[in-house]
Amino acid sequence: MVSPVERELQNLATQFLLHIAERPEQKAFLVTCPRAGEGTTTILSRVGLALAEISRLSVLLADGNLRSPEMHAVWGVPLSPGISDALVEGNLEAAIQRTRCPSLSLLPAGNPCANPMELFLSQGFKDAVVRLRQKFDLILFDSAPLLVCKDALALGSGLDGAVLVVRSRFTVRRSTQRCLEMLSDRGIPVHAAVLNRKRRQVPKLFMTLFNLQE
Ligand SMILES: Nc1ncnc2c1ncn2[C@@H]1O[C@H](COP(=O)(O)OP(=O)(O)OP(=O)(O)O)[C@@H](O)[C@H]1O
Ligand SMILES: [Mg+2]
Repeated sequence: MVSPVERELQNLATQFLLHIAERPEQKAFLVTCPRAGEGTTTILSRVGLALAEISRLSVLLADGNLRSPEMHAVWGVPLSPGISDALVEGNLEAAIQRTRCPSLSLLPAGNPCANPMELFLSQGFKDAVVRLRQKFDLILFDSAPLLVCKDALALGSGLDGAVLVVRSRFTVRRSTQRCLEMLSDRGIPVHAAVLNRKRRQVPKLFMTLFNLQE
């Protein structure tokens, strides 16, 4: 039987699929949050897996949180080679790792780099995103929290929009509003928000997706 949490994840994945089915040109998204620990990596990993499982799409989860990379640990793959190494060595394909789900791939962060923001604004990174778009149907980028540094804004400005994760009874309204303003000022549309760890109905994980543009 499907648990309430799995049902919520599948609902979120389904709404994502409906969004991109209507907009086939959109395939690369930023997933971000106001501050550390709100659940970006968890939500991205679990929704990414649900997306790959319920659709026929090839999905890539990319770790754009170069300051505090976690995706490799969640999926049990090495940190390197990853994004930062691929840009230095020019070998993007070598950095893409398989996961236990055949249609889900992973691009780890790679070895630490001195200035992630500069990396995301570089021509090399833009070229890499073009190649990833050719290779995958859907790409979700994990990122550093928006109120901690400008990395996510630099990363997101080359993508098709953002999903904002906020944590129930943790994220304050002012932080959420500030993040929406920062994304808007940068011309990054926010397609959805996820309320993570809502406790009223389901003890551990409950998510809501609502279209902020409607
Ligand atoms: N819905 C949830 N239920 C239970 N635990 C959760 C949930 N979401 C996140 N966590 C836990 O909270 C911690 C922080 O989550 P996560 O690493 O996903 O946050 P993050 O936003 O990626 O943090 P960072 O900004 O440091 O990268 C992790 O230990 C994770 O397992
Ligand atoms: Mg994280």
